[in-house]
Amino acid sequence: MLIVKNIGFLTGTYETAPELLKGREMSHLPVTENAWLICENGFFHSWGSMNSWDQVQVILEKHTQAEIIDAQGGMVSPVWCDSHTHIVYAGPRETEFVDRINGLTYEEIARRGGGILNSAKKLAETPEEILLEAAMSRLNEMIRFGTGAVEIKSGYGLSFDAEIKMLRVIKKMKTLTEVPIKATFLGAHAIPADFKNKREEYIDLIIDRMLPAIADEGLADYCDVFCDRGFFTVEETDRILEAGWKYQLQPKIHANELDFSGGIQVGVKHKALSVDHLEFTGEKEIEALLGSVTMPTILPSTAFFLKLHYAPARKMIDSGLPVALASDYNPGSSPSGNMPFVLSLACIHMGMLPEEVINAATVNGAYAMGVGSTNGSICKGRTASFFITEKINSPAQLPYSFGRSLIHSTYINGKKIN
Ligand code: NIG
Ligand code: FE
Repeated sequence: MLIVKNIGFLTGTYETAPELLKGREMSHLPVTENAWLICENGFFHSWGSMNSWDQVQVILEKHTQAEIIDAQGGMVSPVWCDSHTHIVYAGPRETEFVDRINGLTYEEIARRGGGILNSAKKLAETPEEILLEAAMSRLNEMIRFGTGAVEIKSGYGLSFDAEIKMLRVIKKMKTLTEVPIKATFLGAHAIPADFKNKREEYIDLIIDRMLPAIADEGLADYCDVFCDRGFFTVEETDRILEAGWKYQLQPKIHANELDFSGGIQVGVKHKALSVDHLEFTGEKEIEALLGSVTMPTILPSTAFFLKLHYAPARKMIDSGLPVALASDYNPGSSPSGNMPFVLSLACIHMGMLPEEVINAATVNGAYAMGVGSTNGSICKGRTASFFITEKINSPAQLPYSFGRSLIHSTYINGKKIN
């Protein structure tokens, strides 16, 4: 048994956890001030105000071995569920960073064979063990920032062998950590160089060879397509998503980062679990999302790093939509898995409130990666995965303190990881 006492702010607690939070609900964050929290066998057990500490004393009489942690006025929150990352990759792309400083755009770099194709070239030359080691170290870095559930995409393979190699790395990661990991097949991330003038053939390869092999080996939970200007069209996305569903792979797609691409609508049409990026979201897109099963997922550190305009999160929430936040950790457009920074950006640049960003990265993040039944909130019987911050005045101090993380400990299934 694990008991956390003197919690300044215990957040995200529910008797019955919501599946997701939308519109106005997003601004309500359950908070118990000056609280205690009990975890048993890796699950949340109970919580209350320090005024009711005598209840804990009674429990302690029966559990003399219980470990007691003093949170010293810090905040305790369910871990972040980072529902969109690409952390299996071979190396950084800082030369493109300099190219962009010198005036090239992300799309111009991609057209020259840089960008995703650059990462694919590096990945093809990198052995599985090296990729695994690097991805595990990125995961550990993310855990230090309070992340405790991660979705990871393929998409730097772009050949049968290399896509399978990436997905096997993710599968291996699942066995090496207690952090829940979901794998997403993103064969349709870019048209590889050797298929430049035969894109149809590459899409056939995805549908006829990659998808069946991936399903056969149980290598993916979801199917993704980069549906955007210069990458994959709506028609191509339509075909791939339909093919993915034949293997029970629900879509989670990249959409509307570079243009009003129709990606949001095609994602909703195929009952995508999430559509992600959404820098180009207008009335029609909001209309399509309302009442759907699809979680709009926003990646503000990508907009920050590529100097894109930010997705209209405020408008989306005011229209009644739910919003999730994720890091998009990848070497090209967001070389960081720092979720507290993502939350700061969402407050500063998108007008989201501190309560909203915390909900977007917990309850709604869990929904967007399909771990809502175990993660996202502090609820009896859910996995005891949470983080503790240094002493703070209010939860708003978390996104306020941009660029540094106030989180000092992360617990996964009731065990301290860092
Ligand atoms: O989510 N937009 C597409 N894919 C990634 C970036 C890939 C890359 O540049 O390596 C993203 O931003
Ligand atoms: Fe991405």
